[in-house]
Amino acid sequence: MTLWQGRFSAGPAEQLLAFTASLAFDRRLASDDLAGSRAHVRGLGRAGVLDDAEVEAILAALDQVDQELTGATFAFAPGDEDIHTAIERRVTELAGSAGAKLHTGRSRNDQVATDLRLWCKRELTEVGRAVVDLQQVLFDRATEAGDAYLPGYTHLQRAQPVLLAHHLLAHGWALARDVDRLVDARRRLDVCPLGAGALAGSSLPLDPDGVAADLGFAARFDNSLDAVSDRDFVAEALFALALLGVHLSRLGEEVVLWSSDEFGFLGLHDAWSTGSSMLPQKKNPDVAELARAKAGRLVGHLTGVLTVLKGLPLAYNRDLQEDKEPLFDAVDQVTLALGALAGLLASATFHTHRMQEAADGPAAAAVDLAEHLVAAGMPFRSAHSLVGGLVRGEGEGQRSLANAVEVDPALGPAAAALLAPGVAVTRRTTPGGAGPGPVALQLERFAERLAAEREQLAAGGPARA
Ligand code: ARG
Repeated sequence: MTLWQGRFSAGPAEQLLAFTASLAFDRRLASDDLAGSRAHVRGLGRAGVLDDAEVEAILAALDQVDQELTGATFAFAPGDEDIHTAIERRVTELAGSAGAKLHTGRSRNDQVATDLRLWCKRELTEVGRAVVDLQQVLFDRATEAGDAYLPGYTHLQRAQPVLLAHHLLAHGWALARDVDRLVDARRRLDVCPLGAGALAGSSLPLDPDGVAADLGFAARFDNSLDAVSDRDFVAEALFALALLGVHLSRLGEEVVLWSSDEFGFLGLHDAWSTGSSMLPQKKNPDVAELARAKAGRLVGHLTGVLTVLKGLPLAYNRDLQEDKEPLFDAVDQVTLALGALAGLLASATFHTHRMQEAADGPAAAAVDLAEHLVAAGMPFRSAHSLVGGLVRGEGEGQRSLANAVEVDPALGPAAAALLAPGVAVTRRTTPGGAGPGPVALQLERFAERLAAEREQLAAGGPARA
């Protein structure tokens, strides 16, 4: 039996139920559904639609359902299409005629939208916390990296030396924007749809403002049609998660590159690498590869949900049920990837000698030579051309760059000193630059940013139970 059987003379086909049921995945909304029902019932009590005894009876039944669900003793029935109908059925069994009043003035349309917003508020906060944990690892590793440096790349060609701390924090700042986006998405979705009913509100004296406040929402909906059909918050959450996934993917790719023999910049801890079933010597960066790959799945979820929403007429359509699996999976996958990358990076070894060796080629300081000439009054374009000529000469087997600089009348020994190992990186002195001066300041700013993120996330309420 379904809850809507009254209008029908025949029961639903088995295949209909198999196709339309969402219980298998929306069980994850159980605690939010219970919270929504409690607030709804209290609202009906305040409005005088239910008397005190009825409110008490329903709340007691909801508590009992809560215990059954958490203790895994809840017996689902064949007609339970989704978590909402399952809970209502059981409440009615437990509280009789009072229980049959639970759904007064409510539809599953405003109910499910409320549940999912409650779920998002909590889970996006949790994802934010996991991002901060990864940022903390990047910060710790950056702090301990001191003055170690490596080549910075453009086009994956060695360009200029940068501090390792600077490189690590570059990923950290991208993640900071992700936290910002999660918090921002959470702020915008903080609106309670309960009281919109199926689509048009109610003839009963509901109290949407009181219910919204009871549930900890910042506001109630303004338009009942919009309240039940709006899934912007799901799309926004999926975008924030997809872009976060893209950042993790880029980080993963660098771990893969750096841990290769060709780069040799990074050694993975045994606990965070995998072996080969055939090749005994292999030690593989599977964690980083999967982090790299998850972005594909996350972008797919975003695209999928946007495509479901596109062209839907107002108000609720069953299509909207397809919002949950992608959202749940996106949160799960991102959470796993964040934890795995944090573990991998916290335990990895940076081979800083190897990094510095790769960064110490004299050509990496070519722009310093040009800037040396600029400081002496030469136009940058002429300086660029002069130094470019010396680099070309070295490539063509003439004298070495160091030698050519030494004997060049415009350059000479003071300029040649700029090519010494470790010098170039110290000359990146401008704000936000890659040298020790600005990076020390950047570390301070990053620590402040981390503290601010923690504060914002704490304002989102308690952590997941
Ligand atoms: N399981 C449904 C969903 O996730 C709940 C809402 C059902 N509403 C309806 N009118 N059939 O969207």
